[in-house]
Amino acid sequence: MREQLQALETVALEAVAKAANLEELNDLRVRFLGKKGELTAILRGMASLSADERPVIGQLANELRRRLEESLAERTAALAAAAKQAKLAAEEIDITLPGRPFLLGHQHLITRTLEEIQDVFLGMGFSLAEGPEVETDYYNFEALNVPADHPARDMQDSFYFGPQLLLRTHTSPMQVRTMEKLCPKPVRIIAAGRVYRRDDDATHSPMFHQVEGLAVDANITLADLKGVLLTFARAVFGEEREIRLRPSFFPFTEPSAEVDISCFQCGGSGCRLCKGTGWIEILGSGLVHPRVLELSGYDPEQVSGFAFGMGVERIAMLKYGLDDLRHLYTNDLRFLRQF
Ligand code: DAH
Repeated sequence: MREQLQALETVALEAVAKAANLEELNDLRVRFLGKKGELTAILRGMASLSADERPVIGQLANELRRRLEESLAERTAALAAAAKQAKLAAEEIDITLPGRPFLLGHQHLITRTLEEIQDVFLGMGFSLAEGPEVETDYYNFEALNVPADHPARDMQDSFYFGPQLLLRTHTSPMQVRTMEKLCPKPVRIIAAGRVYRRDDDATHSPMFHQVEGLAVDANITLADLKGVLLTFARAVFGEEREIRLRPSFFPFTEPSAEVDISCFQCGGSGCRLCKGTGWIEILGSGLVHPRVLELSGYDPEQVSGFAFGMGVERIAMLKYGLDDLRHLYTNDLRFLRQF
């Protein structure tokens, strides 16, 4: 029986050492140590042993069982650890991989420029006014002192819906609409938005944006206009800017002036951008024509006003050095991403 036990141990330990997985180990446990297993089978022979030998063999059998169980436990633990390692390796995440970048968008140049312009005037105490893009002949022309037969209408080729209705050609109608609403109170507003003209080339688009400014109060003078526009020019084009007012003509202002800023490229000495003059035109302005004040309900003997109007695209083109206005509308990402 000793030899039988010895042989069983050798075979069993070898089998356990070779077991490839937990299932095989379990089968081995049943085969050697189970109720109907090989050890039990051997121990059935105990009945024929002498009383002296029985405890000796019993002890040997117990020790064998203990060693077998130990080796089964060891092998189980080893296989479990290996299985865990394999699982971890298979599920490994490389945390050193760089993340996928989010593409951040940004404001369109027109929006950015428009908001920058608005911010400057809001900072000076102006409020925002808003009005329709489809405008009547009265607000777009008539009330701005541009009568039906006035040659100034030739300056702006318009999109008409009918004899009295058109797409506004400028934001100036907002002067009249605001004055009608606020009269007789003082006015200090800017109005921004789309305007439309029959134009289409590198520096003109059939749709573009303007910002209109209007201040009406007692004792408003050209000096007020100049101070406001100088502040604007410096805020948008740099603190060293100077401005100059050149006599001009608009039907709704008297006197009228075109406003230039000192060239921000050459500082005034003359370069390609300012065509050698040292000055760049940025907007039209003037003192509100007495007839416009009157048509809107104000008494030109009691109040006066200044007004100005500028093209947002023109400001953007100057500020960002664009050579073709149409870049602003084609929305080519290769262009837009540069800003
Ligand atoms: N409305 C004019 C235009 O579109 C621009 C303008 C000039 C507006 C003088 C004004 C102004 O308010 O005073 O060309």
